[in-house]
Amino acid sequence: MTDPRIGIIDERLKGVNEIVAVSSGKGGVGKSLIASTLALTLARRHCKVGLFDLDFTSPTTHVILGVKGLRPREEKGIIPPQVHGLKYMSIVYYSGEYASPLRGAEVSNALIELLAITRWNNLDFLIIDMPPGISDATLDIIRLVKRINFLIVTTPSRLAFETVRKLIDLLSELRVSIIGVIENMKMKKSGFVQQQVEARGLTFWGEIPFDAELEEAIGDVNKLSATQFGKKLGEIEKLKV
Ligand SMILES: Nc1ncnc2c1ncn2[C@@H]1O[C@H](COP(=O)(O)OP(=O)(O)OP(=O)(O)O)[C@@H](O)[C@H]1O
Ligand SMILES: [Mg+2]
Repeated sequence: MTDPRIGIIDERLKGVNEIVAVSSGKGGVGKSLIASTLALTLARRHCKVGLFDLDFTSPTTHVILGVKGLRPREEKGIIPPQVHGLKYMSIVYYSGEYASPLRGAEVSNALIELLAITRWNNLDFLIIDMPPGISDATLDIIRLVKRINFLIVTTPSRLAFETVRKLIDLLSELRVSIIGVIENMKMKKSGFVQQQVEARGLTFWGEIPFDAELEEAIGDVNKLSATQFGKKLGEIEKLKV
């Protein structure tokens, strides 16, 4: 029997215009920072934006946004709190500062549950911060959210791109939309990633330099937008709204 919550997910996301999963084959490439900063940037441009942290084992976007002690409101589901101009949802509302040792089926269950109960209402963009790698969450989100688009993050390293390539191949095979690839933490000139991306018929969104000042801006959204990282992300042509 199919889970009745799956039908509810479609209904819950009906008012969301574009759903973007920020993902990578590799960990530690800047997904969470890019997802959060992207959401903030779009919100500043007067878009209605939601940010959903789907990294259930190691959620970090609350640290990036500098939010603490938030609780969603319960009303025929869950209404995500509004922070810094965006609607924000994370497992930390339920797990607090503790590790949530969810495994396999429990991750899927939590993911289905949160997708089924969260009332995003009308949004221009729902940005999803994905856990690293090709995880259960990746396969679940593809299965559960038919309108999903992937924004892929890599670093200039051939090692990072090697795992990213596998994710790209999987998504292509499954005919899942890939809206672009961002090359993060660029330190010196090289055309490797762009070339690989374009050779696969995908859109290269551009590169973001390694920014030694970024760490200090974590937790302060105004500082974050003012960093070289934040500015470069904001200049991405594809983001002009
Ligand atoms: N452009 C950049 N310049 C300098 N440091 C960066 C840059 N992008 C990300 N970082 C740093 O890299 C680390 C990883 O970033 P982040 O947590 O966003 O990556 P992630 O891909 O979400 O990691 P995970 O796979 O663990 O979820 C952080 O310490 C972050 O500050
Ligand atoms: Mg992350």
